[in-house]
Amino acid sequence: MTLYRFGVAVERNLVDEFDRLAKKAGYVNRSEAIRDLMRNFVIEKKSEFEDIPVVGSITIVYDHTKRTPDKLTEYQHGHHDEIIATMHIHLDEDHCLEVIAVRGDARQVRKIADELMSMKGVLHGKLVITASPPCLTE
Ligand code: NI
Repeated sequence: MTLYRFGVAVERNLVDEFDRLAKKAGYVNRSEAIRDLMRNFVIEKKSEFEDIPVVGSITIVYDHTKRTPDKLTEYQHGHHDEIIATMHIHLDEDHCLEVIAVRGDARQVRKIADELMSMKGVLHGKLVITASPPCLTE
């Protein structure tokens, strides 16, 4: 793939800090770090403004003493087209962590994440969206 060069004006201290942290994170050069940031921005914004197909994971922590497991199971059966796998970890006597893999149109995946995270007993949740290769091509 042909690479396109462009110039950007940025404060010197921001560039220094960016380069220092990019090196710590293992990037071999600034361009590679910026390409990753841009890919992330493109996926994030495309999935926000356009209803593109996405894959992702929803991580939730919940209290299993509050009938949450029943509601979660019922919900997941009702969304079997989008919810493709679930990993369950018993954190302690009362709490569970669940990582739910999802696939579908961005709008629907975000809706599922919102509904799961707002469910009674769910204490914390986070959705990570990524995209299939056409968005990620190097
Ligand atoms: Ni559990």
